[in-house]
Amino acid sequence: MDSQVARFEDVPQLYKRHVFACHTQRPPTHPRGSCGAAGAQPLWERLSSKIEAEGLSADVGFTASGCLGFCSAGPLMVVYPEGIWYRPSTPEDVDEIVEEHLKNGQLVDRLVMVFSRA
Ligand code: FES
Repeated sequence: MDSQVARFEDVPQLYKRHVFACHTQRPPTHPRGSCGAAGAQPLWERLSSKIEAEGLSADVGFTASGCLGFCSAGPLMVVYPEGIWYRPSTPEDVDEIVEEHLKNGQLVDRLVMVFSRA
């Protein structure tokens, strides 16, 4: 019996980067909060539009995700393969993430969220 052993780097990737953006919407008074209640929707619409407008759609996947687990910190998005979590709060923040990270592969340090499991 043949066994197939593949390395991660040998598996063809669909995208160069993949963005997951939390689209969960809870009522404003919900104790956990939510990215939607924190104003995520217009930011993700801009993000999706910018990816398209910059011609990045072939290289950058964009997926509307459910809750990413850190609701009170939202709006949250995460970019793979780097595994960088961002918390944009303005359209300009979104533009900077697209230009610097998604286009140029540079970290947008001021918008990075670092989480730890205590
Ligand atoms: S609602 Fe967005 S991380 Fe939970």
